[in-house]
Amino acid sequence: MSPFHLTRTLPEDTTDAALRSDVQEGLTGSPKTLPPKWFYDARGSELFEEITALPEYYPTRAEREILRARSEEIADASGARTLVELGSGSSEKTRHLIDALTGLHTYVPVDVSESALTLAGEALVAERPGLEVHALIADFTAPMTLPRTPGPRLVAFLGGTIGNLLPAERAAFLAAVRTLLAPGDTLLLGTDLVKDEEVLVRAYDDAAGVTAAFDKNVLTVVNRELGADFDPDAFRHVAVWDAEHEWIEMRLRSRTAQTVKIPALGLAVDFAAGEDLRTEVSAKFRKEECAGNCRLRGWS
Ligand code: AVJ
Repeated sequence: MSPFHLTRTLPEDTTDAALRSDVQEGLTGSPKTLPPKWFYDARGSELFEEITALPEYYPTRAEREILRARSEEIADASGARTLVELGSGSSEKTRHLIDALTGLHTYVPVDVSESALTLAGEALVAERPGLEVHALIADFTAPMTLPRTPGPRLVAFLGGTIGNLLPAERAAFLAAVRTLLAPGDTLLLGTDLVKDEEVLVRAYDDAAGVTAAFDKNVLTVVNRELGADFDPDAFRHVAVWDAEHEWIEMRLRSRTAQTVKIPALGLAVDFAAGEDLRTEVSAKFRKEECAGNCRLRGWS
């Protein structure tokens, strides 16, 4: 039997119900918002991979460099036999960790994107014979059960994805992850740090327009899944630094006054000219704050 297992922890109609309620809530509220997890259909996952190679998008290169330099140290400290990765995407940077974890038995990538999990999982089992890969299609912000695999576990949450959670969601997430761990297990958290506004804005609004296409892809997802009639060209992608919250916001700004129909919800949504739909928050952290956050959640 192939050592690659793919498990859908939530039935497909749950995903559908979650999208419906997120769109209903997000587009009838003020300001209008959509949660970033809906970017990642097959096309969105592809566009995200393109983003990670852009000259302006520094986080992936920076984190890969840290993992390359420090994986052995992390592996020694954790001694993990199971590596769980939340929001694993292409699992590309994780290879450094997988290589360094000499006693590794099972890798559990967890992601909302089935296409990314399948691509990454099949490549990994081909490259690493003997490694069990147990992929989970799951939303890591919802309650989650991990497969029973040998401990200790290392739970990795990389890419600064924790920054996509709003403060209250972040707190709930850290508390929930805490309950997944047994004594001797470890958490590896990768966050981006606050830096110059210009550098940040360029990273989220690149010259080639890949991030703009990624941002607008969420409209395509809502069109396909809920029969909506969003015209992606009727919106402009913008990246805004919120200095008070220390996060970047991606927004889709309506070019004109328009009404969008969402038949599956029986909804017609009015946009004023220049009105923004917030599609992502990407919080940036300060070193002291990361440690403080964790202490507050009973992590140390
Ligand atoms: C999913 C957290 C890695 O917030 O930087 C990249 C997603 N959005 N460009 C981030 C993203 C726009 C990304 N992460």
